Amino acid sequence: DGFPAEKLFNQGYSYTYDDVIFLPHYIDFPTDAVNLSTKLSRNVPLSIPWVSSPMDTVTEAYMASAMAALGGIGIIHSNVTPSEQADMIRSVKSRRVPILSRTQKSKLLGYVAKSDWLGLKDKEIKLGEVMRTDANVCVPWDYDLRQIDEKLKVEGRDFVVVEEGGEVVDAVTKEEVDRVKGYPKLGKGTVGSDGRWMVGAAIGTRDSDKERLEQLVKAGVDVIVLDSSQGNSVYQVEMIKYVKQTYPELDVIGGNVVTMSQAQNLIKAGVDGLRVGMGSGSICTTQEVCAVGRGQVKDFEVVVMEIICTSHPFLHTESCFSCIATSQATAVYKVSSIAAQSGIPVIADGGISFSGHVVKALVLGASTVMMGSFLAGSTEAPGAYEYDEKKKCRVKKYRGMGSLEAMTKGSDQRYLGDTAKLKIAQGVVGAVADKGSVLKLVPYTMQAVKQGFQDLGASSLQSAHDLLRSKTLRLEVRTAAAQVEGGVHGLTSHEKKAF
Ligand code: XMP
Repeated sequence: DGFPAEKLFNQGYSYTYDDVIFLPHYIDFPTDAVNLSTKLSRNVPLSIPWVSSPMDTVTEAYMASAMAALGGIGIIHSNVTPSEQADMIRSVKSRRVPILSRTQKSKLLGYVAKSDWLGLKDKEIKLGEVMRTDANVCVPWDYDLRQIDEKLKVEGRDFVVVEEGGEVVDAVTKEEVDRVKGYPKLGKGTVGSDGRWMVGAAIGTRDSDKERLEQLVKAGVDVIVLDSSQGNSVYQVEMIKYVKQTYPELDVIGGNVVTMSQAQNLIKAGVDGLRVGMGSGSICTTQEVCAVGRGQVKDFEVVVMEIICTSHPFLHTESCFSCIATSQATAVYKVSSIAAQSGIPVIADGGISFSGHVVKALVLGASTVMMGSFLAGSTEAPGAYEYDEKKKCRVKKYRGMGSLEAMTKGSDQRYLGDTAKLKIAQGVVGAVADKGSVLKLVPYTMQAVKQGFQDLGASSLQSAHDLLRSKTLRLEVRTAAAQVEGGVHGLTSHEKKAF
């Protein structure tokens, strides 16, 4: 019944997520037994496969902290000065700093309050001079959020330190408790060996990016993403080697790529992770403008309210240039098969509009999914809400980093257009409906993803990949009529909310 992935994706066609469908397999475990813990890159483990895209309308400090709290990770965009980007990294990491004893490793000696810490700036000062040692700052490790909330109220504090057997294991702030109140809990947050949220940052491949990188490393960045729409270049290969030589402890993610040979080049250069997708994003016009990439999903019916073309309209018609690309399902499958041989995790970047797309990306070989439009418009996304009179709802701006508007601020490097005389837009500016907090959006979507995995009989990413490669999981191509049948149809209107 159906086709093994190996056969389906080797027929000369480029498939999008919507083009393909998995046939159900055998269920022998409950939904909650599905474990989607994964890796972003060789040395960055995550408890959920969720990454927010380095775009200036998606990931700044607020989004990155929320992603880490959920167990995923945010990649801070680089459409700002190096010091502004470094400040965002510091902000994600600026939880209060507990001071631990050097001899008795995890014994709490005191702490530096945020206001004191910020006042220090770069001053050389002995910690003893600013350290506070008040009692009643600790709670036992088995306190739940409700008990921590109670303790914060009783003590009139805005943070507590969590101890287990006399050792400090975490710190929880009032702000964090307030933000997660009433939301479902997912898994462990993404905390680095320094006890602070992990966070990534995007950089380009110019010489000036080496200085940017230095500032980001000083600010504590945990992983670097080389941000390019076509990553298979001499510039990126050299930058990968530079990062690995200069900061051997730092993971570097290369891309974007969509073919096996592109991926092989970057793997040879030493990448710790690969980002896959070209022109498949909801705001992308790379495929139309440059004729390069791999097939695309452009279904923004639910999430993107409106796409407003701000650049010259003729640039967004297919007739203007002959173009390059591949569909995202094919790209993810092909690149993942080659990356798996070297143990390199793959990020499926762009084109995700529904939980079903996440299931397809992960089962086809990706270790994580990166999202722009899906997270844009949320409370944690940068920018202010505006009221859309026509749609009768609040919206936030969402724009492609290759849109003329974003490139004016500097993101043209991503499209290697910063040295070109004429700027050509490869993205558009739009608006996305208010989605509320990602602290609610992500857990509900993850639950749907787990149900998809259960239907396929896969209790983890590894088991899904094993089932796919052993040809146990089967797929079929959906005709246009089958895609219509697979969606809601035959109703004059319907409720679009899933939760
Ligand atoms: P989604 O579908 O999640 O896609 O909104 C986000 C991804 O799209 C890429 N990106 C662009 N691609 N022109 C492009 O061709 C652009 O202006 C642009 N801006 C972002 C990027 O990979 C992102 O993660």
